Amino acid sequence: MNTPKDTAIRFLKDNSMHVDQVDPDAMLDDFLAEMDLGLAGEKSSLAMIPTFISIDKPVPVFKPVVAIDAGGTNLRVATVMFDGDGNPTISHLTMHKMPGSERELNKNEFFEKFVEFLLPFADKADAVGFCFSYPAEISPGRDGKLLAWTKEIQAPEVVGEFIGKSIFDRLEQKGYRRKFSFLNDTVAALLAGKSIDFAQEYGAYIGFILGTGTNTAYIEYNRNITKCHDLDPEGSQAINTESGNFSKCPRGPVDIEFDESTENRGQYMFEKMISGAYLGGLCLLVLKKAAEKDFFSQAGTQLVESQADLSTVEVDGILRELTRGIARGVGAMSAEDKGLVWHLCAAICERAALFAALNVSAAVLKSSGGESPRHPVCVNIDGSVYYNIKGFSRMVEGYLDKILGPKHVSYELIRVDDSPLIGAAVAGLMC
Ligand code: BGC
Repeated sequence: MNTPKDTAIRFLKDNSMHVDQVDPDAMLDDFLAEMDLGLAGEKSSLAMIPTFISIDKPVPVFKPVVAIDAGGTNLRVATVMFDGDGNPTISHLTMHKMPGSERELNKNEFFEKFVEFLLPFADKADAVGFCFSYPAEISPGRDGKLLAWTKEIQAPEVVGEFIGKSIFDRLEQKGYRRKFSFLNDTVAALLAGKSIDFAQEYGAYIGFILGTGTNTAYIEYNRNITKCHDLDPEGSQAINTESGNFSKCPRGPVDIEFDESTENRGQYMFEKMISGAYLGGLCLLVLKKAAEKDFFSQAGTQLVESQADLSTVEVDGILRELTRGIARGVGAMSAEDKGLVWHLCAAICERAALFAALNVSAAVLKSSGGESPRHPVCVNIDGSVYYNIKGFSRMVEGYLDKILGPKHVSYELIRVDDSPLIGAAVAGLMC
C-alpha cells in the first residue's frame, strides 16, 4: 500500500516539482552564467546592480547615524552608534507598517509616510543610512531608483522614482537637510557581517536574505562589471544580484499557475518558489491540485477546497504538527490526509532549501574567496523563512555542504541580529 509520503512524491514528480528532479550542477551553472551576463549588461534575469559601496574603509566610531530599515512588512527607524570595539548600540527604535503593504498609496502619500516617520529623528544625526528591501538601481551619489515592486507592495506610481531624493527633498522643505546613503537589504547584511569581523579573518562577504522576499549580495571587482565604463578598475564594490528574479529554475505547472495569481506575474519566479510572501500560497495551491486529482479523502478534499489562504507561518505550523491554519481543520482529517498535507508541504520547503543553497553557492563561488580555510567566505544570513521554518536552515546547510564541499571552498554561515539596521548604519556613516 502507498504511504502518504509515496503519494506526495508521486504527485510532485507528476508535476515536475520534486527536489530529485532538480539538477543542482546545471542550475548552479545557470546561476553563474546569468550573473556574468548581468555584469556585462547583456540580457539576463539577474540585474547585478552596482551599489557604489566598497568595504575597504573602517567604520567610523562614536558617531550617531539614523538607520532606516524599509522591509517587506515593517519599517523601522532608529539611531545607531558603534563603540571603539565596533559594537553597535541601537536607540530610539520606532516601528511602522511598510507604506503600501496594507493598501494602495499614491506617490505623495507614500513619500509623506516616510517624512512622518523620519521627522522625530531630524535632530538625532547628520547622516542617514537607508536600507530598502526592493529592487532599485543605485546612482553613484547613492540614491536608489525603484525598478519594480516585489512582495505585493501597492504603490505603483513610485516605480521609476528616486526614493531618497523624493523623501529628503520633502524633509528639506521642512528645514532638515541630511546626507543619506541608500542600499539594498542584502548589501546591509553584507556590511553587517563585515562590521563584526574585527580580526579581518574573512576572505569575502556575502549577504543573503530569505524572509518575505529573497536576494543575495557579494563583492565584485570593478574590472568584472563590464557594463559600467567609468569605474576604477583597481577597486571593488558590493553587487546586488536581485537573485529573486532568477528565471532559469525548473518550474512545474503548479508553479506557473501560482505565478499567474500574483501581482508581478512573470517576474521574480525564483522568489515565488522560496520566500515567505509566497511559500504558503504555493503550498496551498499544491494541496488544492492534489485534492482535484482525488489524492485526499472526500472530507479532506472538502477541507482543502474550502481553505481561502495559507500563510508561510501556517505552513511552519503544519510541519510542527500544530493545529493552525489549514491545520485548523487538520485535526479533523484522517491520518492519511494529514500525512499527505505534511509531506506535500515538507517537500515544497525542501525544494526551497535546495534552491536557497544553490543561490548562496553561486554567490560564494562568484566572490572568489574561501580558498584558504583560514579566510572563509562570510555568509551573513537574515530572514524569517531561513530561521523559522522547521528544519529549513539545517536542510540549506546540508545542501551547501554537498554543493560546495567538493569544490573545496571554505565558508562560514553567520547571523548578525538587526542586520538591516546595522548595515544601513555602516553605509550612512560612510556617506
Ligand atoms: C527584493 C530584493 C530584496 C529581497 C529581500 C526581494 O523581493 O526584490 O531587493 O533584497 O526581496 O528582502
